[in-house]
Order: sequence, then structure tokens, then C-alpha cells
Amino acid sequence: MCGIVGYIGFRSAREVLLSSLRRLEYRGYDSAGVAIVADEIKVEKRRGSIDNLKVDFDGSLGIGHTRWATHGIPSDKNAHPFLDCQGKLAIVHNGIIENYLSLREELIKKGHKFVSDTDSELIAHLIEEYYQGDLKDAFFKAIRKLKGSFAIAAIHQDERKILAAKNESPLVIGIGDHENFLASDIPAFLAYTNRVIVLKDKEVCELTDDFVQIYDFDEKEVRRDVEYINWSLEDAEKSGYEHFMLKEIFEQPIAVDNTIHSLISRNDLDLEFDSMVIVACGTSYHAGLVGKYIMEELLHVPVYVYYASEYRYREVLENSLTLLITQSGETADTIAAARKAMAAGNTTLAITNVVGSSITNYVDMVLYTSAGPEIGVAATKTFTAQLASLYYFAIEAARNKMLISPMRYESLLNTLRKVPYYIEKTLSVEPRIIKEAKKIANSKDIFFIARGINYPIALEGALKMKEISYIHAEGYPAGELKHGPLALIEEGVPVVTLVPVDKTYEKMLSNIKEVSARKAYVIALSPSEEVGKYVDSLIKVPDIDPLFSPFVNVVALQLLSYHTARILGRNIDKPRNLAKSVTVE
Ligand code: AGP
Repeated sequence: MCGIVGYIGFRSAREVLLSSLRRLEYRGYDSAGVAIVADEIKVEKRRGSIDNLKVDFDGSLGIGHTRWATHGIPSDKNAHPFLDCQGKLAIVHNGIIENYLSLREELIKKGHKFVSDTDSELIAHLIEEYYQGDLKDAFFKAIRKLKGSFAIAAIHQDERKILAAKNESPLVIGIGDHENFLASDIPAFLAYTNRVIVLKDKEVCELTDDFVQIYDFDEKEVRRDVEYINWSLEDAEKSGYEHFMLKEIFEQPIAVDNTIHSLISRNDLDLEFDSMVIVACGTSYHAGLVGKYIMEELLHVPVYVYYASEYRYREVLENSLTLLITQSGETADTIAAARKAMAAGNTTLAITNVVGSSITNYVDMVLYTSAGPEIGVAATKTFTAQLASLYYFAIEAARNKMLISPMRYESLLNTLRKVPYYIEKTLSVEPRIIKEAKKIANSKDIFFIARGINYPIALEGALKMKEISYIHAEGYPAGELKHGPLALIEEGVPVVTLVPVDKTYEKMLSNIKEVSARKAYVIALSPSEEVGKYVDSLIKVPDIDPLFSPFVNVVALQLLSYHTARILGRNIDKPRNLAKSVTVE
């Protein structure tokens, strides 16, 4: 986890690097730094955000880094870039070098002096060890020694070029005219060019002002097509919203609509399977839990859902279609799970939002959600886009397996197509939600309860609340409260209840009475007026087919956590201790 950037061309490297790094801050913001070749290499790096940097030098060739700490605490000395002993070459690194201890020891024995606690610094010394006037040659020799995940960029003050390598961490090249760019993600340089090459694992690139060459690790040249990006930088910016998260919440009608449309043109989803395994982390895991309900309901196959970090250490179920859900496509645990499922001979299908992301290299098939770039650390529009993909997949599979009548198929697909409209209607409830956020913002604990297909939404509501407001929150199946958590319910504790009018309705009303009797402050999300009689506050949500109610309920809960966090003045787009893509296991 971290963001790296590089620039070579005719512009101010300081300006390009700093503006590019700002667009990558979602990848980590523990420290930042740049190295620029002025007459010689100059480095400025500091703990904290990019705004702390005081870059009083400039040139037209440089590299930069924004860090999410793994090896070594966030500090000035552990910030990137790192220099070799002579201060002539600089590197930035995203990932983890697994054999760093042995390499570091070897280099120390050879006289290299280390100044940080990171695994990354050894890369500068390793290149230095091999350097005999040719950066490319030394770079290849060094990266062949590295084990682990990395995206690395290196520069030397005596050579006008950037060398970079990728293995299991993302790296993209931006092609300009008499200038070239390098970054962990496209928005970093989209202000300058929309022509990109997404590097694959075990590839190296050499950039000069007018030349881009890609090689494999054996130094054999690789030919790659240039892709044209058709989303604008504005798509990746806040467009007048106070936070990316709010913008992304409001983008959900279009994100879901685009996702459904992109899937409708697919004709390769008719897969044979008798059971399904879904593997994911965090919010994507909650999408997987909703997926379980919808698949079991429509396909009558057993579906098992695992946290990716747990799946790694258990027996793999054979002959199961394995779905890996990850918005970023870079989550290390989910990638490891994909590899494990593949190795066991299972068909693997990834649902991801990022074209060309790492997971796409480790699965048989990919379903792209078309939510557009999501910058806020809290996943919102990518979650509803994941749900849309799962529902679409289930509806299509149920038709292909002739498990539903043509009429039911049409009706389900129509409701799915109308989901953007229902989300739009839910967004208009925002003023009511703000009132509730004001009431609960000073709570110590908040509980979220639901049943059936909305139980995962209760979990997601609690995760969102914890993640951005830092209030302790728990999601429970409503029927489980009496088996323990009810002991925590006392006067004024907010309990948010999800009450669709379906087979869970009556039981939910009983659970509401249970917590009301303990004087909890009960909020309900429901399309039913009647619920208002039993709760302190009813937020009326649109009356959608209950099977699709997760879409509207989750949007209301995203708004509730957003406004609670906003009232508390939290750093909503960059919550403490978290980063957008978690590339460590
Ligand atoms: C979501 O709000 C969280 N930031 C987090 O739980 C996230 O969903 C998780 O890290 C998985 O990420 P992925 O979808 O990119 O794999």
C-alpha cells in the first residue's frame, strides 16, 4: 500500500509530482516525499501529508511517494524516496520485500549504510551495488534478487531516464508528447494525458522524454498497446461536494445503471456449478453475504461466504465456482485466495471495479463493475455496483438453468433496472437522515439489527459507522440480540432497525419491542407507515420489492454514517489507520 509517481519531460517536476501525489493520497498518507534531479538529486520527505513537504528545488525529472506504513513507523526517516550511500540514485517502492532481512544483512556486510527501518531502502543499495554506469543494467540485476510484491521506480542523477518494475503491486505508464509519467493509479497523471499502458506482473519499463520501452524480467522486450481513458479527471474529483464520500454516495444511481448496462452485453455468464464460494474482505464481504441470499433464493445451490484472510487457511471446497469480490482488485488477502482457488482447480470469477487491477491476472473471468473511480476510503458506490453484479449474475443464471419462469425473469430484471430510480428516491431522504445523525452523534455505541437479506446490510451499516465516525457500532441478526447483546441495551442507546415488509416483518416488530422495552432510542428504516407506531423515529425508505431492499437500506445507512462523522468533524475521506487498498496480508 502506498502510491508512487514518476515524471520525465519538460514541465516542472515539482508541480507534476506534487499534484500527482495528491491524487494518490487515498493509497496512504503517513508520509510523503519527492526526489528531483536538479544538478544533482535532491530529496524532500516528511511524516504526514503531502502539504507538509517544503520542496524548494525543481527540475524536469523526478519520482515521488505517499506512504501507508508497513515496515517501520510513520516518520521522516522512514519516508520515501530512499537514496544509495553516495546520494546519487533514488528509489520509491510500494509493496513488501519478503527477503529483505537477508538482503539487508548482505548489503551491510558489503559496507552499505542504512538510515531507515524499512524494507524498501535496501533496493537503493542493491542497485548501487550493481551500478557501473548503466542504471538499466543495475536495475535488472537488483529486481531479479527481490522476492515479494513491489512497484518500484528508480532514477540516477547521471542518467536522464526512469526505470520501474512491477510485481503484484499496480503500476501504470502515462504517455505524453516529449514527456512520460508513471503512477500507481491513472488519476495521478490524468490531468496531463489519457494515454496509458497498464504494466503486468514481472514487467520493467524504461522511460525517457520521448521513449517508453517495456521488458520482462529477463530483459526481453514486450510489446503493449496503449489504452485511451475515457473518464475525465473531473470524474475523479469532488465536483463541488464537501467530501469524495458524499459525491460517491450520490453517484450510486449512475454507478448501478452503468454496471447493469455493461453486464447486459455479456454472453459468457452461462457457467455450470453445483455450489459457490464467495471470498472477499470488509464491505466487499458484506456484498458477498447479500450475494449468498440472492443466489440461494434464485439458484437453490449452497453458497459459502468467507473472509479472504480466513479462506487462506482452510480446506478448499473443490468443484465450486469461486467468486472473488474486491473493488480495488488489489487486496492482498483476496488475491491470495484467488490463487488458492485456482490451484485447487476451481473456476474463478472476480468482481472488481478497476480495469487491469492485480486480481484480474489470477482468475478465469472478470466482471467489471462500472462505478468509476472511488476515492473515499469508505466504499459506497462500488458496494451497490457489486450488489448489482451479483443480482444480475443470479437472475441470468436462474434463467439459464430454467429455475425461474420467463415472467419471473422479466420481472426481476425490470426491478433491477429500476434500482437506480429507487436509490435516487432514497437520496432525497437525506434531510431526515441528517436530523437523526444529530441525535446519535454523541453516542458511545450504536446497534444495527435486521434479518434475512438485510442482515448483511446491518453489518455494513455498522462497519461504515465505525470506519468514519469512530463510534463503536455492531450489526446483529435481530433474533440474536436476546442471546447476549441485549445486555448492552440501556436508556438512549441508538438501535437502527431495517424493516422491509417481507416474511421478516412481524419478527422485526417483536425485536423492536424488545429493545424499546429497554428504553433504547429506536430508529427504523422501512417503507411501512405502521412501523412508526413502535419506534422513536421512522425514516421512510422507498417501497421496492423486498428482495431488492438492500440497495435502498444501505444508501440510507451510508448517509447516516456520513452525516454522523461530519457532525463530529472526522476526516471522512481518509479515516485514521485505514487506506483505500490493503495490499498487505
Ligand atoms: C470499506 O469501506 C472498507 N474501506 C474496507 O472494508 C474494504 O471494503 C476492504 O478493505 C476490501 O477492499 P476491496 O473491496 O478493495 O478488496
